[in-house]
Amino acid sequence: MTEAVLLVGGRGTRLRPLTVTTPKQMLPVAGVPLLTHVLARAAAAGIDHVVLATSYRAELFSAHFGDGASLGLDIDYVTETEPLGTGGGIRNVASALRSEPDDPVVILNGDVLSDHDVARQIEIHQQAGADVTLHLTEVSDARAFGSVPVDAEGWVTEFLEKSPDPPTNRVNAGCYVFARRVIDAIPAGRPVSVERETFPELLGRGARILGQVDPAYWLDLGSPEAFVEGSVDLVLGRVGSPALPGPTGQALLLDGARVDPSATVSGGTTVGRGAHVGPGSKVLASVLFDGSQVAASAQVHRSVVGAGARVGTGTVLDGAVIGDGAVIGDGNELLAGVRVWPQAVIADGALRFSSDESPR
Ligand code: GDD
Ligand code: MG
Repeated sequence: MTEAVLLVGGRGTRLRPLTVTTPKQMLPVAGVPLLTHVLARAAAAGIDHVVLATSYRAELFSAHFGDGASLGLDIDYVTETEPLGTGGGIRNVASALRSEPDDPVVILNGDVLSDHDVARQIEIHQQAGADVTLHLTEVSDARAFGSVPVDAEGWVTEFLEKSPDPPTNRVNAGCYVFARRVIDAIPAGRPVSVERETFPELLGRGARILGQVDPAYWLDLGSPEAFVEGSVDLVLGRVGSPALPGPTGQALLLDGARVDPSATVSGGTTVGRGAHVGPGSKVLASVLFDGSQVAASAQVHRSVVGAGARVGTGTVLDGAVIGDGAVIGDGNELLAGVRVWPQAVIADGALRFSSDESPR
């Protein structure tokens, strides 16, 4: 038996307004909830028991995944009444784990899409006799991540979460192997950050934390730009997933999606179930949620259109996020960073929002 804990309790603030009603791991990415890709990959890596550490909108996870049988997994749910943070969330599920003290337990941030070889990480962890093994990946700007310097043999020397001046661009990829006993030693019943408290404290006590650098595809889908990028990469085949719901390529068209023959839908776009793209419109590298509508002669680029939302005739979206059920009238222009609240209505006319202001 190999078991994993999935941290899925965050509020997904950076992905608002998409996360106002839905936790980020339940948002559709290439046609299925992001977490489905993560779980399917975990199953493919030989993990059979999964504990979901939930908090925000916990009920949506169990309603969708149930006992996990459809993914070949045995899924348990443990819900925090108050969010306990990443370390507190891990500690809080200890009673649901089945592993012995020295067994490896995999911990995954639930918002990461990756081709990383977890089975190999477990092997390396066991061979080295590590207390914890961290998957490390390289990014161009490490400030938004945990920067993790290692020594010549790969042992972690420091863990610096979201530091303004990171010493290395090798960052924590949010995939850990913990010896079970290390989980039991995290303080219970209060919020704990695994990044800011547990790792620094373990290093201070001389614990053996190993870093495993793996250059495989890796992306944290926690921001709107990255959310679109992850979905596009799945559709274009830049990263694989056993959970893709249909044939991919330039676009993924889900059941009941309708694209007018004179429209162009490409660049890794997903057109959701029952969604509609009208005559002459161009939709490039975007995510159209179920039941959304793009009217005629519109241009949608690197944007997300929420469930049931409507984009009017001739409207241009570029880097925009449209909440569920919002109505964007004809002839509008919503550019980089604009976020429209669910159910908001923007009248016809050449409105141009190009700041981070969120029209509600
Ligand atoms: N159960 C539970 N409880 N889960 C939580 C809580 C909580 O209180 N807070 C956050 N989570 C979950 C989130 O839902 C997400 O799946 C995961 O923990 C990580 O939280 P994020 O909010 O996405 O963190 P981040 O992306 O800023 O930083 C983390 O991930 C980076 C890699 O993607 C850190 O681990 C960084 O060190 C790391 O580099
Ligand atoms: Mg994240």
